[in-house]
Amino acid sequence: MAQYNEPMLREGALDGKVIWVTGGGSGLGKSMTKYFVELGATVVISGRREEVLAKAQEEISNKKIVPIACDVRNYNEVEQALQQIVETCGQLDGLVNNAAGNFISPTERLSSRAFDIIIDIVLKGSKNCTLACGKYWIENKRKARVLNIVTTYSWTGSAFVVPSATAKAGVLALTRSLAVEWAKYGINLNAIAPGPFPTKGAWDRLFPEELLKKVKLEDRIPLKRLGEHQE
Ligand code: HXC
Ligand code: NAP
Repeated sequence: MAQYNEPMLREGALDGKVIWVTGGGSGLGKSMTKYFVELGATVVISGRREEVLAKAQEEISNKKIVPIACDVRNYNEVEQALQQIVETCGQLDGLVNNAAGNFISPTERLSSRAFDIIIDIVLKGSKNCTLACGKYWIENKRKARVLNIVTTYSWTGSAFVVPSATAKAGVLALTRSLAVEWAKYGINLNAIAPGPFPTKGAWDRLFPEELLKKVKLEDRIPLKRLGEHQE
């Protein structure tokens, strides 16, 4: 049996598939993209910063990566990106709602706009991409997969990251609801809830050095270790 830090899927498992990973230019989105390409997929990566996408494309594979700048908060941009994907790749088989925003703060110190920004990226962004892709799949009678990235605090809630916890709980409800509603179209929705995986995006914003000096993160995890990107 493969170890947690070894590839788990059979070679060629994603041959011929086209997968859209939002926020695929960095962190866990980039790691998933790399593995999907190794398994045979063509991967569309999106994010707001073109230079980040270009760098990831160069790093992983120039041929199997299609970078498309798109802010998931804006439904028109999402629809345009989808149209571009279908024109460029001819099809779309899967969507990974991975793009996210987060910061650590006492909630009473947040402006209303700051709270909205997180809800807009995480919940509205996942809704925008899922709705646009779902309409396309249903209209074109295509079977498809959606993978949503939530967190362990989607169930428990979490102090000091309240906008993220609120939005991620919403994404979990979206996943469960549409998994039932769209099963008849052959559209499968799943979610995964990673514990802490070191990425620059999460670490810069959630685990600043002063905090890590006081709290040993591994001690709070039953397995006593952080996640590794391959798993
Ligand atoms: C309080 C903050 C803040 C902070 C920004 N704001 N940072 N408030 N504490 N640390 C406020 C600003 O004052 C502003 O409000 C509003 O938020 C929007 O800030 P902008 O910088 O204008 O927005 P934008 O450029 O869109 O940036 C969005 C962002 C940024 C979310 C603030 O951090 C970002 O782009 N993040 C993307 C990557 C990311 O966060 N990755 C981490 C994912 S980890 P006002 O009212 O002043 O205008 C994760 C789960 C980890 O999701 C789970 C671990 C177990
Ligand atoms: P990350 O590297 O900061 O990735 C976030 C990505 O989202 C970036 O590529 C960013 O690109 C993109 N993004 C942000 N706002 C966007 C917007 N409005 N439109 C389009 N793209 C946008 O963070 P990560 O740690 O890899 O997290 C990836 C996912 O895993 C997130 O859903 C996160 O909640 C989840 N997660 C992470 C951990 C962890 O420990 N790392 C734990 C549990 C869950 P741009 O800035 O260029 O737009």
